[in-house]
Amino acid sequence: MLKNFWYAVEFAHAVTRAPRKVTCLGQDFVLYRKRSGEVVCLSDLCVHRGGALSMGRLVGDEEIACPYHGWQYGPDGGCVKIPANPEGRGIPRKARVDAYPVREEYGLIWAFLGDLPEEERPPLPHFPQHDDPAFRAVYFEMELDANYERTFENVVDAAHTPFVHGTSFGNPDKPEIPDYEITQDEWHAEADILLSPPPAKGLWKRLYKEKPEQVVVTNGWYLPNIVKLHVRLPFGDLILYDHNVPISQDRTLVKIVGYRNFFTGKWADGNALKRIEKILLQDKPVVESQRPELLPYDLSDELHLRSDALQVAYRRRRRELMADGWWVGDDDVVTGDGPRRRATVIPSPARREDPELARAWLHKSRGEPAGNGAVEKERA
Ligand code: FES
Ligand SMILES: [Fe+2]
Repeated sequence: MLKNFWYAVEFAHAVTRAPRKVTCLGQDFVLYRKRSGEVVCLSDLCVHRGGALSMGRLVGDEEIACPYHGWQYGPDGGCVKIPANPEGRGIPRKARVDAYPVREEYGLIWAFLGDLPEEERPPLPHFPQHDDPAFRAVYFEMELDANYERTFENVVDAAHTPFVHGTSFGNPDKPEIPDYEITQDEWHAEADILLSPPPAKGLWKRLYKEKPEQVVVTNGWYLPNIVKLHVRLPFGDLILYDHNVPISQDRTLVKIVGYRNFFTGKWADGNALKRIEKILLQDKPVVESQRPELLPYDLSDELHLRSDALQVAYRRRRRELMADGWWVGDDDVVTGDGPRRRATVIPSPARREDPELARAWLHKSRGEPAGNGAVEKERA
């Protein structure tokens, strides 16, 4: 799993004045809105006794209170009140939780999960359809028992569609994938691929005058976990942005925003969602059964064809980022029942700004420089 990226962790409409727990990179976070509407993202692990802030309540305009002993934290993660302390007693400097930078864009809440300063952070991708009034969006999600890179590569992979999606948009009679050219930069890659769709079914049939021989599909990825699928149908465009949120190393929350510029009435949303669900349900058993469960680190561990070029581009780029120390494995971050119970936190940018605070945290002894690796707190 890659840190130091903006992750879309929740749909914007799901974040309100009620604390909401989300999980990403094996770590729990709490999201809530200040009274001003701005969204806050904090580590969900209270530094006092490890209570879950998401089970607490909001107080005042922008604070959250832990459900256990009522410590109150502000949006920067600093503790502002300890109810058990007599009046006038100071609050320890170390009484703070990690606070993560947040952006609200494209109907999503994005949290920056890493400790890079603002100017070094990778950019958010650009989804031009979001502000285009010609398009309408639907929001869909599903959890899968599979690693997020397996589900991510599945959507990048055009060659599986005739086999896995032969009864939806894949065409079992035309399984060939013509060679394609990739355009790529540091954070994104995409390619136009010529596919031969099967005859339209259901609602879409109404829009077909003539069945097209071929359609151009733009398929691509944005780091760390987003896949774009832009299908140019004869009657309009369908663009899916598929976020593969790593809940843990082996469980993925797929969040999809689907834009269309045909049938743009609300009445057609149900049909659009059903089509997305049908495709995901076809992929689910296949990706859940892939072995090894995790994507191999070494390119030579699996066979690659020309038609797999987009996945190969991803695996190469991922190796570079691993070499830069951006990789976090399950044993770095997952909270769970191991030989001893552990709770871990991804360092937020505040730690870089305050080296003294950073040192106060116990760093894993893996030879990683302070502030680079995941930080571990032990639970008794
Ligand atoms: S565990 Fe949160 S206040 Fe004690
Ligand atoms: Fe698929």
